[in-house]
Amino acid sequence: MKTAVYRKEHFNAAHRLYNPNWSFEENEAYFGKCNNPNFHGHNYELIVKVIGETDPATGYVVDMKWLSKLIKEKVLVKFDHKNLNLDTEEFATLNPTAENIARIIWELLRSDIDAKYDLKVLLYETDRNYVEYPCE
Ligand code: NI
Repeated sequence: MKTAVYRKEHFNAAHRLYNPNWSFEENEAYFGKCNNPNFHGHNYELIVKVIGETDPATGYVVDMKWLSKLIKEKVLVKFDHKNLNLDTEEFATLNPTAENIARIIWELLRSDIDAKYDLKVLLYETDRNYVEYPCE
């Protein structure tokens, strides 16, 4: 039987949602206030879920101190207090929606977490809007 462990982290970031292939009016109609050319910010809540067998030697699935440090080094350093569109290579040409941010975070973490573990990323853009990646 497997167990899931969850590490919750937090970052603040600014973004603008738009499709560069659309006119300003088309972007405004679809993305609304999120298309504000001068950007807007969110307090993102990030939950990283690791699923695996509990190690009988430690009683842990993974060491949460290690997981927290990994998230800080691979994700928070890049995105916290940044303008995602302007300050990050990941979103220079990729629309920084919650869906895309969650996928990028998963990609940033996956190679550092042993393949024997399943990994999921939940990202709350607001209290009411959140995404999960990957999701079957
Ligand atoms: Ni937004």
